[in-house]
Amino acid sequence: MHRRLIAPGALAAASVLLAIPASAASFTPGAPGIGDPYYPAYGNGGYDVSHYDLRLKYQPATDELEGTATLLAKTTQDLSRFDLDFLLDVSEVRVNGVAAAFSASGEHELVVTPKSPLPKGTALTVVVRYHGVPSSKQAYGFTSWHRTPDGGIGANEPESAWWWFPSNDHPLDKATYDVSVLVPDGTQAISNGTLQSTSSKLGWTRYNWRENKPQTTYLATLAVGRFDVTTGTSEGGVPVINAYSKDLGDNDGAARASVERTGEIVDWLSGYFGPYPFSSAGGYVPNTTTGYALETQTRVYYSPRQFANGANTSVVVHELAHQWYGDSVSVKGWKDIWINEGFARYAQWLWSEHEDEGTAQQLADYVYASHPADDAFWTVKPGDPGPENQFDGAVYDRGALAIQALRNAIGDDAFFAVLKGWPQKYAYGNASVADFQRYAEQVSGKPLAALFDTWLFQPSKPAAPAARAASV
Ligand code: ARG
Ligand code: ZN
Repeated sequence: MHRRLIAPGALAAASVLLAIPASAASFTPGAPGIGDPYYPAYGNGGYDVSHYDLRLKYQPATDELEGTATLLAKTTQDLSRFDLDFLLDVSEVRVNGVAAAFSASGEHELVVTPKSPLPKGTALTVVVRYHGVPSSKQAYGFTSWHRTPDGGIGANEPESAWWWFPSNDHPLDKATYDVSVLVPDGTQAISNGTLQSTSSKLGWTRYNWRENKPQTTYLATLAVGRFDVTTGTSEGGVPVINAYSKDLGDNDGAARASVERTGEIVDWLSGYFGPYPFSSAGGYVPNTTTGYALETQTRVYYSPRQFANGANTSVVVHELAHQWYGDSVSVKGWKDIWINEGFARYAQWLWSEHEDEGTAQQLADYVYASHPADDAFWTVKPGDPGPENQFDGAVYDRGALAIQALRNAIGDDAFFAVLKGWPQKYAYGNASVADFQRYAEQVSGKPLAALFDTWLFQPSKPAAPAARAASV
């Protein structure tokens, strides 16, 4: 539970409110959600964050996290109060230097009432002091904070920030990040972007990480543990930082044989998607039993389980493809998940072709043939799967099949122009499935409504497999 402290200024603020003339009626609370129909409580209304500065201290032995988050934001309405999404215990909130009242609400809301109402367009500096044991907190019965024998990790989709920093937790509100973490000497803290510096004193080491390009909250990650960190630069000039838990056991070789190819794969993907959008690339493999990988911006989260059968470059291709499709260009709403997962899976098909393990067309034919018409697979609509099916295999495989169908309908020249043009057009922004359809129509000059409807929005198996390109 949050501490429910009433700030000293709260009563005074109430009387100021009463004294304000009738126009004050326009000052209203920010909505507790940003308006995503899949997740009505995710994100918040009334303000937009431009930067998060997280100055933290983490104790691996006890999973205790404490620190201060400083958010730079701007109000987008006349605002009487606003919410942050957060689960840890808050001891103080200041808005533009002045102590604010705060209280917990719902599953993960921190309601902040500033001393004075905030006119639309006001620049905000919000300081939140907090502490807690992330692994002890649940929302909706789950946790996105993963304890390891030597530390902890925040990584999940669509939510992970609640366990380690207060935020406006929705992809629509992107921001830059400085993450500075103090950990006991001999332990490493891994986060997004570039490692600006480290310093040690009094038995603690501070890691200063910076992500200087807009990043959505679920793509921010923090991992503390005993890591071996490797650095390099891709042939194309992208700095690469990877980290491997020192306790990967039998998976250590396969993990390194896969993730050390990050630079090569970033350069290869750049050939299809255009210049790599961020200042660094890489991944980390913590000592976790969690099963999924996640495209955490610039520093991909991998589970050792991905490497249990030997090298797995395909998962590296998938997560790195997301850096363009998902991270630089993010969903507008979670129903748009196909613009992330369909394309990351399609990149794996292109890699398969590159590795001589089957062409994209062969894999599309295989997916089509291996799911009979009465398979529940076809009831999932990749273009609007519903929150319960957001990460269903059909979003990935049927999603990639839809992309092959598009390729065959518009031809390779237009298709590869779309694949490369899209990440530039919406770089560092947000886009929807409808935006993608419109863009593909523009580039190809072909009406595509029927094709998109058949492959992405019908709960049934399309009548014919993705036709081969006319030229074949
Ligand atoms: N976007 C991730 C991927 O690359 C999927 C994450 C699924 N999340 C989860 N909690 N299982 O496939
Ligand atoms: Zn993915």
